Amino acid sequence: MTGFSVADVRAQFPSLSIADDGKPRIYLDNPAGTQVPRHVIDRATHAMIEQNANLGGAFVTSEMARTLVDEAHVAAAHFYNAPSARDVIFGANMTTITLAMSRNLQKTLNITEGDEIVLSRMDHDSNVAPWLLVAEDTGATVKWIEFDTDTFEFPDDAIDKVLSDKTKIVAIGHASNCTGTINDVKSMCAKARSAGAISYVDAVQFAPHGVIDVQDIGCDFLVSSAYKFFGPHQGILYGRAEVLENLFSYQVRPALEHGAPAKFEIGTAPRETLAASLGAIEYIASLGNDGGADTPLSRSRVVSGMQAAMGHEMALTRQMISGLSSIKGVKVRGITSDNALARRVPTVAITMEGKNPGEAAKSMARDNIFMWSGHNYALEPINHMNLMKDGGVLRIGLAHYNTADEVDIMLERLEGLV
Ligand SMILES: Cc1ncc(COP(=O)(O)O)c(C=O)c1O
Repeated sequence: MTGFSVADVRAQFPSLSIADDGKPRIYLDNPAGTQVPRHVIDRATHAMIEQNANLGGAFVTSEMARTLVDEAHVAAAHFYNAPSARDVIFGANMTTITLAMSRNLQKTLNITEGDEIVLSRMDHDSNVAPWLLVAEDTGATVKWIEFDTDTFEFPDDAIDKVLSDKTKIVAIGHASNCTGTINDVKSMCAKARSAGAISYVDAVQFAPHGVIDVQDIGCDFLVSSAYKFFGPHQGILYGRAEVLENLFSYQVRPALEHGAPAKFEIGTAPRETLAASLGAIEYIASLGNDGGADTPLSRSRVVSGMQAAMGHEMALTRQMISGLSSIKGVKVRGITSDNALARRVPTVAITMEGKNPGEAAKSMARDNIFMWSGHNYALEPINHMNLMKDGGVLRIGLAHYNTADEVDIMLERLEGLV
């Protein structure tokens, strides 16, 4: 594709043209999962027809399956800018991977009473509960990084206040699935490293909206989920090679003979979802100007594709935030200032005076406008903002395939509702 065209993009997603009872679907539920382009579906179909065998055989389908598994790892390394495809681990989803890794780290680091784990009040529960369970099982102490409920950001020294030479793990979010805030994970990971702690970054909500560079961030681990960036239900973890090398893995014995990534990938590699994850990364790369559809996948193509999508998203975000802010009774629970929009993803949480978020989501659904309400597993942020008693928030989330018209329709309906 040359030049970003939302019409061209939409033509690639079969689900975007579906209507129900004559009402077109308006997908603003993207923070909970995005739609899938034809290329991703074709990749999965092709894998199930042509590349369907287990690994290690001397026959053609097994060899093809091996190539596919390797290609998916290489693509994910481009997506994260990981130094090697061996640093990339595929799993069922972010939560499953994080629960497993938390156990592996607990055992390897020998976490015990007196040790400390640093968690954030802005994170999704999948980057909170696994570490709380480690603390519960070991007697380690949990320390919290608190965000400012007026700015929706962490004060610069928030992490300094809780780090110590006892800190073993720092678990932080790249972008919040509630406030939408993008955090300065680079600086937080550097501070964690200086304290001698392992950093674990949840990039699930950031991945569809920005360029990830694990080498620049300097994290030990970073994880995202392909279904949030136009792919299948699958989680993808980056681990720093030096950490992976010595990391214990709860794994079956034959797989333990291999090093990373196989040592950490539990069970038979799911060919069709690996193919679809590869397809999602290829799809993102196709959005930029860095080569045509036949150009081989590369890091620079992934970056240019993502940047093309980001340009369109930023215009939509500006339109949506300014529209929401101008509706009387609506309060955006996140960054709204025009010159700070680059510090947020287009995952936007609002509350409405006298209107329950769940009821609002139901009313919008009657017009086939999809959005989520409640806590969306962001228990800590919702509690920190004291919003649980009012039913949480109404969450409206954009993807690069949304249009200015869709945002206008949503704003008009919401204004009528409030
Ligand atoms: C920020 C964030 N982290 C983690 C998760 C959980 O991801 P998964 O569904 O892949 O387990 C989500 C899902 O919504 C999320 O938004």
